[in-house]
Amino acid sequence: MPVSMADQENDEIDLKAIATRARAELDAASDEAALETWRVAQLGRKGAVTSVLRRLGELPIDERRRLGAEANALKGELEAALESKRESLAGERLAATMTEGALDVTLPGRAKRVGRLHPVTQTLREMTEIFVSMGFAIIEGPEVETDYYNFEALLIPKEHPARDMQDTLYIDKQRDGSYPFMMRTHTSPNQVRFMEQHQPPIRVAVPGKCYRNEATDMQHEWMITQIELLAVDEGLSMADLKGTLFEFAKRMFGQQRKARFRCDYFPYVEPGVDMAIDCFLCDGRGCRTCHNEGWIEVMGAGMVHPQILQNMGYDTDRYTGFAAGIGAERICLLRHGIEDIRSFYSNDLRFLEQF
Ligand code: PHE
Repeated sequence: MPVSMADQENDEIDLKAIATRARAELDAASDEAALETWRVAQLGRKGAVTSVLRRLGELPIDERRRLGAEANALKGELEAALESKRESLAGERLAATMTEGALDVTLPGRAKRVGRLHPVTQTLREMTEIFVSMGFAIIEGPEVETDYYNFEALLIPKEHPARDMQDTLYIDKQRDGSYPFMMRTHTSPNQVRFMEQHQPPIRVAVPGKCYRNEATDMQHEWMITQIELLAVDEGLSMADLKGTLFEFAKRMFGQQRKARFRCDYFPYVEPGVDMAIDCFLCDGRGCRTCHNEGWIEVMGAGMVHPQILQNMGYDTDRYTGFAAGIGAERICLLRHGIEDIRSFYSNDLRFLEQF
């Protein structure tokens, strides 16, 4: 029983009795709830010990000093005793659980969730491995580009219609209204960047992210990953381009795959082609995946425009080159039969964990 103010109103304050009773009651408390009741009764705002401290003011100065010191000491002692009682109760509880077998230390541990590479990264690595095995070196270039490298140097001047297909995200608008920096729309600027710094023979593959102002749908994303291929050497011809890309298609999609070139236009190659593989789902008969065409386009390519080689200071009587730009998402979609390109970057683990 807590000692109330009323009990003690005009009595002597018997600190010894309060201490004895508090210690006895704490000894008897056998669970967390009892401990809390005890704490409120002794040390709470209206508890026995607290009440003594509160009443000190009524006492003569000598008495107040002596009793004050004793009461504070008691308060400290009881607080410490409460803590150690709490700990010993917790220890007893744990011991009880162990002996009852509720804690089975022989159970296997929980497996850690192990991360994995993104499906596009996996595909990108397979692609670069194929090109490395053919003698291409892997290099990288900046994602933030200048208008010059992304367009001008590739023979796409301002007002050229080819720019319409590659609108992008522009940054750092200048006072005069121009945007000198932009997110690159393809990896092709690295053809020029590399040729400016090196002399033939050249064989490089440049993987990296590209950005476009796209209305996204099943086939279009505003951020995609490409690999640019560039080879410049004496005597390179369309046959070398075709051999390289057809071999790539076979290693990527299986030896039985057929590939075809069709005429296409990119200002920085002449001639330009798009390459398609025969549909691996219907073997060319026509189905939903190939839009009933039997063929699936996988990349743009061509012979490097002689004007660009000349601009780099190369002797165009001696050197020719070929280039290609391959979309990694596209290849990944086809490899795994994925329908919607948007699933790659919507961060749904249920999708990503399948690869
Ligand atoms: N840069 C082109 C694209 O992004 C692909 C390409 C690369 C075409 C090299 C020809 C030569 O679509």
